[in-house]
Amino acid sequence: MSQASQPRIEREFAFNAQDFEFLSNLAYMRTGIVLKDHKFDMVYARIARRCRALGLATIRDYCALMASDEGHAELGNLVNAITTNLTSFFREPHHFDHLRAHVFEPFHRQSSPRLRIWSAGCSAGAEAYSIAMTMQDTIPDIAKRDCKILATDIDTGMLEKAKRAEYSAEWIEKIPQALRQKYVSQNRINEATRALVTFKQLNLLEGWPFKGPFDAIFCRNVVIYFDKQTQIPLFDRFAQMLKPNGYLYIGHSESLHNVSTRFTLVDKTTYQQVS
Ligand SMILES: C[S@@+](CC[C@H](N)C(=O)[O-])C[C@H]1O[C@@H](n2cnc3c(N)ncnc32)[C@H](O)[C@@H]1O
Repeated sequence: MSQASQPRIEREFAFNAQDFEFLSNLAYMRTGIVLKDHKFDMVYARIARRCRALGLATIRDYCALMASDEGHAELGNLVNAITTNLTSFFREPHHFDHLRAHVFEPFHRQSSPRLRIWSAGCSAGAEAYSIAMTMQDTIPDIAKRDCKILATDIDTGMLEKAKRAEYSAEWIEKIPQALRQKYVSQNRINEATRALVTFKQLNLLEGWPFKGPFDAIFCRNVVIYFDKQTQIPLFDRFAQMLKPNGYLYIGHSESLHNVSTRFTLVDKTTYQQVS
């Protein structure tokens, strides 16, 4: 028996399989995120918060709101509620070692005019600032070079947190000590590091209002929530946004197998664009 069709325990807000189907279809259409039946309780908990905030009596009322013209204004809150934002500094550290050796060190040695990195699905910003600290540490004359990081996410709440750049001691501890000493003060990312990153809201399923090309793209632990139908055109677009032979870093449980032939695997969850 699927979780959505199991008899329900008494809840603060009535919620049934039909409501779940409506919300998961809407989430899929708007974000590409697939909410399988086992996410029933998670969806309930997150939408219950929205019902409390809006003073609604049932989740059916919330669905009715989303189906109406007024639903448009609530869409951002729904999206913020259903995204999973787990992240940390220097998560999957081998990617930062690869980036340093294969992108930043060659850039430092050569006279390339510009360096562009994209953190696609950046959540609270830890990934983008990890890239920035690695960049500063590898390119001593960075202030005189044209180096930028674009960091995007669909979730406006996460982008606000990312721009504040203030993290708990527990989060900061994940930054290697040598970098922490140079680029963090009082649990806030220093200004010079912050200045390398531009945060923007972007739904990966919609238009991308920039041309690139990027030297490297990080899209880690994002497509794990997407089906193949969404992943296939997305990786095709990433290939187009990369410089020839540019690098793509994906999450530890993700793969491009049967998704894209425009990349070759060069290291653990590290791909190179093939032109
Ligand atoms: C689990 S976090 C990964 C954060 C970071 N990349 C990492 O690996 O630590 C996934 C992020 O993808 C974002 N996301 C999900 N669907 C998206 C979409 N359609 N467009 C843009 N971002 C999306 C979520 O808001 C969330 O912040």
